[in-house]
Amino acid sequence: MIMQAIAFDAYGTLFDVYSIGTLAEKLFPARGAALAELWREKQIEYTRLRTMCSMYKPFWEVTQDALVFACRKLKLELDFEAQNALMGQYAKLQAFPENLGVLQQLRAMGLKLAILSNGNPEMLDAVVRAAGMQGVFSHILSVDAVKKYKTAPEAYQLGPDVFGLSAKNILFVSSNCWDVCGATWFGYTTYWVNRAGAPLEELGVTPHGEGRTLIDLVGFLEQDRSN
Ligand code: LAC
Repeated sequence: MIMQAIAFDAYGTLFDVYSIGTLAEKLFPARGAALAELWREKQIEYTRLRTMCSMYKPFWEVTQDALVFACRKLKLELDFEAQNALMGQYAKLQAFPENLGVLQQLRAMGLKLAILSNGNPEMLDAVVRAAGMQGVFSHILSVDAVKKYKTAPEAYQLGPDVFGLSAKNILFVSSNCWDVCGATWFGYTTYWVNRAGAPLEELGVTPHGEGRTLIDLVGFLEQDRSN
């Protein structure tokens, strides 16, 4: 199966969310890791609830709501400055160190690259700029176009629509196992960048490829071409 295009998840896959935990730890000593974890968990949970109940609102706002809840639950006092600092971090995440080089290599292989993210367009533009990735992607796709979050099929459909390819000829790449599973169910060929060495979700789905960093992805695609 020759891949012709790649759709990347954004947060945690291309952009390193680690700095959020570091900042949270600075603001709330000894509670940073717990806050970062609950914040991310609630953020994704709210996207699912809102999609199931057709109550979409942009990812930036969902992210803010999740932060407010997580702090309340952990009994951390979130003042205006702390909220601004933590939310601001989302807009200026750095890319994982290997990413820019790998993305350029993939482009040189003739692959078309896109981002397909829950992030709203303004967030994605800001983070792409902060990571110095302008001009790397032919498309920056936000689920905001369909007002449904991944793993809704309408969200995944943005990839085939924009590339004019069937999903199996597009490689969907994410570090989030749930996202990889949803994309596999949808029909994409999938690659799990399992940066955390996490166990596979128990959903009866196996990604087509798995590695630890984006560098491993190059080997997978070279293999795809030689088959
Ligand atoms: C995204 C989140 C899910 O970028 O990481 O879509």
